[in-house]
Amino acid sequence: MKKTELPEEIKKEIEQLVKELNYHCYRYYVLDSPVISDEEYDRMFLRLKELEEKYKYILPDSPTRRVGAPPLEKFEKVKHKEPMLSLDNAFSYDDILEFDRRVKRHLGITGDIEYTVEPKYDGLAIELSYVGGILHKASTRGDGYVGEDVTQNIKTIRSVPLRIEGVDEVPEEIDIRGEVYMNVEDFEALNREREREGEPLFANPRNAAAGSVRQLDPSITASRKLHLACYGLGYIKGGSFSSHMEFIDWLRRARFPVPYLVKKARNIEEVIEVLKEVEQLRSTLPFEADGAVVKVNDMELQRRLGVKTREPRWAIAYKFPAHQGTTKILKIIPSVGRTGVITPVAILEPVQIGGVTVSRSTLHNWDEIERKDIREGDTVVVERAGDVIPHVITVIKEKRTGRERKIPIPERCPECGSRVVREEGEVAARCVGLNCPAQVRERIRHFASRDAMDIEGLGEKNVELLYEKGLIRHFIDLYRLKKEDLLKLPRFADKSAQNLIDAIERSKKTTLARFLYALGILHVGEFTAKILAKNFRTLEELYHISPERLSSIPQIGDKIARSIADFFNDPANIETLETLKKMGLSITNPDYEGEKKPEKKPLKGLTFVITGTLPLPRKEVEEMIESAGGHAASSVSRSTDYLVVGDNPGSKLDKARRLGVKTISYDELLEMMG
Ligand code: IVH
Repeated sequence: MKKTELPEEIKKEIEQLVKELNYHCYRYYVLDSPVISDEEYDRMFLRLKELEEKYKYILPDSPTRRVGAPPLEKFEKVKHKEPMLSLDNAFSYDDILEFDRRVKRHLGITGDIEYTVEPKYDGLAIELSYVGGILHKASTRGDGYVGEDVTQNIKTIRSVPLRIEGVDEVPEEIDIRGEVYMNVEDFEALNREREREGEPLFANPRNAAAGSVRQLDPSITASRKLHLACYGLGYIKGGSFSSHMEFIDWLRRARFPVPYLVKKARNIEEVIEVLKEVEQLRSTLPFEADGAVVKVNDMELQRRLGVKTREPRWAIAYKFPAHQGTTKILKIIPSVGRTGVITPVAILEPVQIGGVTVSRSTLHNWDEIERKDIREGDTVVVERAGDVIPHVITVIKEKRTGRERKIPIPERCPECGSRVVREEGEVAARCVGLNCPAQVRERIRHFASRDAMDIEGLGEKNVELLYEKGLIRHFIDLYRLKKEDLLKLPRFADKSAQNLIDAIERSKKTTLARFLYALGILHVGEFTAKILAKNFRTLEELYHISPERLSSIPQIGDKIARSIADFFNDPANIETLETLKKMGLSITNPDYEGEKKPEKKPLKGLTFVITGTLPLPRKEVEEMIESAGGHAASSVSRSTDYLVVGDNPGSKLDKARRLGVKTISYDELLEMMG
């Protein structure tokens, strides 16, 4: 292929774009205070990508390098230049005072020692190696001496700097340590999604973070919401720091995310004050902090104190008392999800833990029961960390009476009596019954849920009621419901029945991504549904598709491909889809990215504003406008080309009239888009 010459001004433009994009990434992901809009960012990013592809000039710190790396066969080993140590633990303030005495004894000092205190993040320790200021390698801790190369995965975390910028002094080589972690809210959302998709749950945010980083396929890491906090220095060449605080300040200036609080204490008494402060803050933090780390501030003193086997003598982890309680497992019940996965749930004798009454605890999966040897009737220690679902930490075996019962995986589904199978290498046990009422109800509930078909008023309770009364056996039955049917039920009056019928009717207009997600195909969550919508223009293109064609899409692995192909090669499923279409289902696909022809941008250069209620959620209409090349703005101004007017328009309509902005209906908008 002929190499395209790289003109000087293009080279400059690429360099400028990389610099600016990295800066905006930092504003967004580290400072949480962006200065440009997402659209502006995307526009610059696309421009950079275009130039890089055309001129084959990709800088080592280009943001385009964060994504798109192919899956690995296995992780390479990485030797840490300085070992990654662990920390000694303190469980009381007495332990902290004892630590201070040890430090002084070892140094032969009687006066005050200056310390720093920062939260201890509960995640996965990572080392970032920078050579000449460029991120060269990222590795896990491993055994402390040798870890695994997870560079491609770590690069997908947007707060990780690809180049050290913002400081005058950049060491020739520097290894920076930190913790990759997940916020509690994101962890819970991830588990909910996994539950829906029939994947085994993560026990806590730490496992979720570790599982997300130790992934051979970087696109999976990219789909998880991971954060980083940097707190440690490893090998360094061509530079030095005199104190931990100075190092943290340098990190901050060099645009690294650092712990949300690092405090200096003049002596051990002040350390204890700060520990109390951090503990107070604990419940307000978005992430799980299981303690605080106390470090000798002066790096020369740190060096003199050195290391005792695997722990430094200059630091200690103060562990917060966990929100734990002891109670009894009254019963272990199997609970059946949408995909038939059977999760064991412990029904507990109610117990107060950290101000909350706990009476249920997920046992995650049957392996976990086996590993911890959890039995019905056992006395157990239950922990509630942050807002996380409480879980069983250990069994107090001493309290056993001999009457406890092991609960094996049920051979038959508790809901429908079908066989329960467990596939090779899978943690999940599944009910194979296609018509299992629990699965059917869950599938319908999923179909109607907010991120799927978004049928308001069709939550768990109503699905259960409609199912029980025999009105729905499949989501397709929703579209056959009549107002008269609903009026016969105890929960419905004229208005609520009409509302539900209207909501069902509205859901017929949907997008391909939502619909694919709603179908509840095994392993197809929102992320995969979006990927499919980006790659296939219509639903019909997926009919009878081969797993190979699906696997050729980078973000779709073999297991997911097989599951999707199975679904679309089943004649009964195709029939269902065709019936739905006959009933008026109409699917648009604003996400489609394939063979972009210029004529597919009929709205290019035009700015639209929406007022009032449209047949589709506003966000989706905006997406449609953007994907047709238009710009969707939120307020009317002289530069607005069209105001799209829905039902009950607001003050924007008056303003548009005043300014002489053209108004159109939703149908006219659709017409413009062809
Ligand atoms: S300093 C030589 N600071 O806790 C000292 N560690 O239990 C090395 N951790 O392996 C660690 N937050 O993965 C330090 N603010 C913090 C930390 C922290 C979490 C982790 C780290 C370490 C483990 C020890």
